[in-house]
Amino acid sequence: MRLAFVGGTGPEGLGLAMRFAAAGHAVAIGSRSPERGAEAAEKVRQRVPGAQADGGQNADIVADADVVFLTFPYEGQEPTLRAIADRLAGKIVCDVVAPLQFVKGKGAVAVDVPGHSAAEEAAALLPGARVVSAFQNLAAEKLMELEHPLEADVIVCGDDAEAKQVVIGLANAIPGVRGIDGGALFNSRYVEMLTALLINLNRRHKTQTTIRIVGI
Ligand SMILES: NC(=O)c1ccc[n+]([C@@H]2O[C@H](COP(=O)([O-])OP(=O)(O)OC[C@H]3O[C@@H](n4cnc5c(N)ncnc54)[C@H](OP(=O)(O)O)[C@@H]3O)[C@@H](O)[C@H]2O)c1
Repeated sequence: MRLAFVGGTGPEGLGLAMRFAAAGHAVAIGSRSPERGAEAAEKVRQRVPGAQADGGQNADIVADADVVFLTFPYEGQEPTLRAIADRLAGKIVCDVVAPLQFVKGKGAVAVDVPGHSAAEEAAALLPGARVVSAFQNLAAEKLMELEHPLEADVIVCGDDAEAKQVVIGLANAIPGVRGIDGGALFNSRYVEMLTALLINLNRRHKTQTTIRIVGI
């Protein structure tokens, strides 16, 4: 598959792109600047020998993608999606955004967003796209450690059953990761909030936590 990462120059997009490239997928790294997109693609090719990776401006790299990942900060979501909404019509769009703030004395705090979750807001902004959400609980630092298999469950939420299965399949393609059907896109609000807890656990226990769901 060809996977595109809008805002893919940051650690989360790059980490996911590297893992998917290592699993044999072609990846395209998007940026607001074509140069930064191309530089980030070069990083993927360096870390993953034989990777099919290119980069460019966000609006351009989504054109021929099978799945488009949203890997920019929450603040950028509305303007970025408004600018490329027409290009995402009909596509599977996987929102990785977790709306967070860092508050002195508290650490990471999940932000109450008007549409209840970044993913539900993305779906409202992209009525023609097949929006799912996933990977919000998988830390970039862990993704970047390509020499170590991951140990994580990825909860995939969405209202389009087929799109959700495609993203579950992508999660399963990363060694050590299990994609779990998380039900409707509605549930994304809980998955997104969990990211704040994981960051605070990481700080307290000086580690990088992931999640495992038992009983499934
Ligand atoms: N980092 C993690 O461990 C982690 C874990 C789970 C989920 N997430 C989620 O994944 C997303 C990306 O995380 P990250 O740490 O990679 O973020 P980041 O480094 O802050 O941002 C990623 C990229 O987004 C672009 N960007 C920044 N501000 C933007 C704006 N206002 N509008 C449009 N594009 C903008 C930048 O690319 P250009 O300047 O090249 O355009 C930047 O390199 C976040 O929503 C985060 O909640 C992160």
